[in-house]
Amino acid sequence: MAEVGTWEQARAAYWHHNEIWDEEYGWQISLAGQGEDRCAWRIGDVVYKVGKRDTANPYDHATGAEARRRGYRWAPPATTLYEVPGRWGETVPVLAMPYMENDGSEADPVLEAEMQAQAGPDRHGIAVDGTNYVVIAGQPVVIDCCTVRLAGEEGDTRGAA
Ligand SMILES: Nc1ncnc2c1ncn2[C@@H]1O[C@H](COP(=O)(O)OP(=O)(O)OP(=O)(O)O)[C@@H](O)[C@H]1O
Ligand SMILES: [Mg+2]
Repeated sequence: MAEVGTWEQARAAYWHHNEIWDEEYGWQISLAGQGEDRCAWRIGDVVYKVGKRDTANPYDHATGAEARRRGYRWAPPATTLYEVPGRWGETVPVLAMPYMENDGSEADPVLEAEMQAQAGPDRHGIAVDGTNYVVIAGQPVVIDCCTVRLAGEEGDTRGAA
């Protein structure tokens, strides 16, 4: 199992996101990026994703884990789903993954085509877009598996693999 982050930091990211309470954690929390749905809060070399749709983080995590299990080279190297207490006493899923950024290299066209073939297109006909992966030493690495539809899984338009 590829685990990353800590529950305490996941809870801190949720609290920070919702401006509930910022205690003295001893960590810097900064915004790594913001999508339509979620904010990625960076603490050290880990990002914690917090959003309003509770289905996004579990799907992102499960899909990334399955992509790793299949040995797909573009899969996020590690993700952990933390369950933290929400504002109203509910349980909120927060997704941790390593902080990753483009190293300035060009995506290898073969690796990019491999990623697009294995990761999509989704039911809207779009494959993984440029906001949802980074390129490290020519290898595209997906940082948001929410748009990924693995072959043979529900929503895949290619039929079972
Ligand atoms: N592992 C990571 N390392 C660095 N930055 C990240 C990472 N994950 C996410 N980000 C940043 O946070 C942004 C939002 O994250 P993400 O794409 O997962 O959220 P989203 O709301 O699901 O996005 P979308 O708008 O595609 O639905 C990304 O575009 C990126 O800038
Ligand atoms: Mg995204």
